Amino acid sequence: MINKEFGSDFHSCDEGFFLSKKNFFFSDSKNFSYFLSGRSALYALLKHGIKNSVWTKVYIPSYYCQDVIENLSELNIQVIVFQSNPNNLILDYDFFEDVNTSVFINVNYFGVLDFNVQVFKNIIVVDDLTHNIFAIKNSTACYVFASLRKQLPVPLGGVLYSPNKLELPLGEDNSQADQAAEHKALGMFLKTEYLHNRFPNKDVFRSYYIMAEEQLTALYKDYKLPVLAENILKVLNVERILRMKESNFKFALNHLKEYSNYIFSLDLNSLGLLLFFNSNLQRDFVRARLIEYKIYSSILWPNQKTNEDIIYQNRFLFLHTDYRYTEEDIIYITTILKQSIQECPT
Ligand SMILES: Cc1ncc(COP(=O)(O)O)c(C=O)c1O
Repeated sequence: MINKEFGSDFHSCDEGFFLSKKNFFFSDSKNFSYFLSGRSALYALLKHGIKNSVWTKVYIPSYYCQDVIENLSELNIQVIVFQSNPNNLILDYDFFEDVNTSVFINVNYFGVLDFNVQVFKNIIVVDDLTHNIFAIKNSTACYVFASLRKQLPVPLGGVLYSPNKLELPLGEDNSQADQAAEHKALGMFLKTEYLHNRFPNKDVFRSYYIMAEEQLTALYKDYKLPVLAENILKVLNVERILRMKESNFKFALNHLKEYSNYIFSLDLNSLGLLLFFNSNLQRDFVRARLIEYKIYSSILWPNQKTNEDIIYQNRFLFLHTDYRYTEEDIIYITTILKQSIQECPT
């Protein structure tokens, strides 16, 4: 690659990460159902549960992707947001109505943390394994859903799974959803071309990403996975992509030994480098410095609502160390990171 840059959205998948023989990581079986996005998978599941099992309440932790919470307001279910963030995942059992018409969204944070749902006896537990899709098949929840585009180079997509083989809803066809997939896939292709210096204009590929994102924001209901995205997903070597992320993460940790107090988790399941700074000032300084070196980090998630969550959000930073990068790239990323931390005025 000639136009090196790091982080941000995936470009289209490079050779070597496709399956050589048909061995789809997920499954074509009936206990998997595929949707346009993670939020549409959750929307579809709740709609199905409200209709067929009279679900009346859904509990969601406050520290979450806020769009997902907002999208549920149209459903005929009480959405109860309880205070919780990755610094404090202890559940106050008395707060929850532990009955089989209540649903608890067990968010797996960044691949490394989730709630102790063993405390519940009757509640319907739904795991959100967006940040750890390797764990989907080992889940013991009633249902699992995940957004696929956070760990995999797919334009978009969401999956719903039932470990207990419970009946799952199917998504609806939608031509605008197909168009969102086309826009995103084109953006991903043009980004690849840009990175290889075969396409000059970054604004053009970015405009396709932005367009697709805007379309996805509008299309949060129960739409099915567009055929284009399904075809891309089915040929990905998911196992290899995720193993490569693990080995890059391990390599990054080796280069950050003296900086471990900035790293939120050393667990190899980590989505990437989860950094937690001493202050918002320090986080923003480092973030801006990284951008100067074309390293684009992200905040998971912006627009938090409660003071406690805003404080957490303001000190957090996520750096991609996924399958896209070579060891040389990881050395570059960690060197700039260390340099930026050292340069930060105290
Ligand atoms: C943990 C988690 N769950 C669900 C979602 C929603 O996924 P999608 O954007 O595919 O709707 C996201 C997106 O940020 C997420 O991070």
